[in-house]
Amino acid sequence: MTDANRKAHWETVYTTKGENEVSWFQESPEASLELIDLAHPTPASTIVDIGGGASRLVDSLIARGLNHVTVLDLSEAALEAAKARLGERASGVQWVVADVTKWYPTQICDIWHDRAAFHFLTDPADRAAYVACMKRTVKPGGHVIIGTFAIDGPEKCSGLPVNRYDATSLARELGEGAVLVDARRHDHSTPWKSAQRFQFCIFRRT
Ligand SMILES: C[S@@+](CC[C@H](N)C(=O)[O-])C[C@H]1O[C@@H](n2cnc3c(N)ncnc32)[C@H](O)[C@@H]1O
Repeated sequence: MTDANRKAHWETVYTTKGENEVSWFQESPEASLELIDLAHPTPASTIVDIGGGASRLVDSLIARGLNHVTVLDLSEAALEAAKARLGERASGVQWVVADVTKWYPTQICDIWHDRAAFHFLTDPADRAAYVACMKRTVKPGGHVIIGTFAIDGPEKCSGLPVNRYDATSLARELGEGAVLVDARRHDHSTPWKSAQRFQFCIFRRT
């Protein structure tokens, strides 16, 4: 898929479907928050949600007093939907329309979170670019949280092929400089009540 096609795909998704008409919608991002808690964030912590889309994770982070939240996504429409939902609270968030495989952050961060974006990178060159971005973005001692479809999860998401992971294969992708701290499987229930098996991992950046 070309870069232009990838962006067009996601803009179409977010301009034609409502929040709970996409399989990945969740009212409350419990699995993500459990792992974020393991990183012991403070109000001073900087956190970036990679491929955050219109997710409600940012709402929970603001509610927990995190003041330095960035949400990055390919789709401007996704970020506009999140901003509209948040209203005034959106002004305290940094919103970045970018492809993570090409992003250069303006500041390093403590916590990198990604639920269901990395698994779309089926091209090894894109995965290498993602990992390089993660390594230049997360400070030593910081944490990297990634949720993907599990080995026995769906083969596609949003009509696109995905790569599926367990903790070992995800750790191998990240390579040196990311030490596995915890790994959990999570069954996501789609808005139409089908189960999707996820693998969530948290790594410490060394
Ligand atoms: C399945 S959705 C998950 C959205 C959100 N993380 C959540 O849990 O609700 C995948 C998201 O990744 C974004 N995405 C896909 N490829 C990306 C890339 N290369 N760079 C940035 N965002 C990307 C899409 O626009 C979409 O919002």
